[in-house]
Amino acid sequence: MIRVGIGTPNQTKIPPLELPRYGAERLSGIRCIATQLNSETPRKSDLTAMAIQRLDALVMLSVTELGFERRGGGATGYIKETYLAHLTATPQFTGQNPSSEDISDSPQSWHLSPPLSLDILTKQDFLDLVEGLEAEFRREFVAQQVDVDQDRVLIVGLMTDRTTQAEFENGLAEIARLVDTAGGEVLQTLRQKRSQPHPQTVVGAGKVQEIALTVQTLGANLVVFDRDLSPAQVRNLEAQTGVRVVDRTEVILDIFAQRAQSRAGKLQVELAQLEYMLPRLTGRGQAMSRLGGGIGTRGPGETKLETERRAIQRRIARLQQEVNQLQAHRSRLRQRRQQRDVPTVAVVGYTNAGKSTLLNTLTNADVYTADQLFATLDPTTRRLPIVDEETGESVSILLTDTVGFIHELPPPLVDAFRATLEEVTEADALLHLVDLSHPAWQSQIRSVMSILEDMPVTPGPILIAFNKIDQVGSDTLALAREEFPHGVFISASQRLGLETLRQKLAQLIHYAIDPY
Ligand code: GTP
Repeated sequence: MIRVGIGTPNQTKIPPLELPRYGAERLSGIRCIATQLNSETPRKSDLTAMAIQRLDALVMLSVTELGFERRGGGATGYIKETYLAHLTATPQFTGQNPSSEDISDSPQSWHLSPPLSLDILTKQDFLDLVEGLEAEFRREFVAQQVDVDQDRVLIVGLMTDRTTQAEFENGLAEIARLVDTAGGEVLQTLRQKRSQPHPQTVVGAGKVQEIALTVQTLGANLVVFDRDLSPAQVRNLEAQTGVRVVDRTEVILDIFAQRAQSRAGKLQVELAQLEYMLPRLTGRGQAMSRLGGGIGTRGPGETKLETERRAIQRRIARLQQEVNQLQAHRSRLRQRRQQRDVPTVAVVGYTNAGKSTLLNTLTNADVYTADQLFATLDPTTRRLPIVDEETGESVSILLTDTVGFIHELPPPLVDAFRATLEEVTEADALLHLVDLSHPAWQSQIRSVMSILEDMPVTPGPILIAFNKIDQVGSDTLALAREEFPHGVFISASQRLGLETLRQKLAQLIHYAIDPY
């Protein structure tokens, strides 16, 4: 087939999903011959277009000495020199790429010949070249696929007028940790500044191109955005980059799907995923759903995605019913606890603050801890003996670990984890644990407080405890002490400040139960 496009190779390129064949292990089967009027070297945008379409080869014919024919009226010139460009399997710094329109600092994934005469060019054996290249791509592809379960991720961050540079960078660091927790490998992060998101593609056209190119160069199979995307944005971005595109909520949902242990947890995650996916079902292109596996696809099986919306809605209704039953069961358990008159303290905090570690240290419980986000999903309750200083009595309190909070907790999850959060609203008091070693500790406090404020029932008194002081400099410590004079400073893992914490907990409970 011959396709004639008028414009530069960049202006006339075919979107990856419309190409007859597309994939990291092969070329698209299309060769492009382009002419240019003067004998400049090919523009970088042309080479980028070649890379995005995975063209077999791009031949540029430089036409010079343009003149007008006396009779025919057409323009003539002759081919002065030609260039041959093709992709390479391993990115390389060739040093011979044109410098104009600099798109990215990453190593180039193409080879560009020096100027060739037409005679030499026509003697090229293209089939041989393409076969050789495809064999190389296949080897490289197989090498990358060794760990098929691990997504190779390109992160894209958009900084708008609504965020400061520091907030933006913290957000990117967080999404990278989320991807890591979900089991993906972060290959690179691309950033863009725009006053507001582009309605169709979030980032601008040039950036979409850079994403597509970087995906090609690095062999990424997934693009993760640091924000939430509309179904249409996902569709557009997937069509233009040729790989799956997921947003922040999907990554968090995926982690929850992998982590949920209890029946209640699993039910709630499935419910949240289905509710999130429902409006997006028709959005995913056929090609995308066939790729299967990886971040954003775990949980409800692929077949479920293909079933009718109505079947999914029925499943949602049934899950909701089961969740409600489980909630009723939990609330009976809670009532029984309350009847026993044992005061409860819910430990809340930003994800990774060290809540489970603290619970383990204080109560010798065996709660799973890890330097990962959302290591704990299901609430765990343990008894902690303390001495009430005022009365001198030895009492017990129940300490409940809760799901970690996160900035902009996806709404489907807030709803799905009502059960866990209900433990919060029904506790007699809260222990708010802060990771003081995290650069964004102040904004993490604000995120947790704003989630607490949105709860239907106002929680009881809150004791704030700053954890990981073993990792904190004296300036930060002084700042936190000044801002939070009533705070407790501890290290859960190094067992520092725990006695003070117990005493403060006793006072807290005393106050919560009898404020007068
Ligand atoms: P989520 O389950 O994500 O909500 O996390 P969590 O708040 O339960 O945190 P977790 O107890 O899993 O701890 C997170 C990480 O922080 C682990 O790697 C702990 O070893 C580490 N950690 C906890 N306490 C301390 C501390 O006092 N000092 C230091 N340096 N690290 C700590």
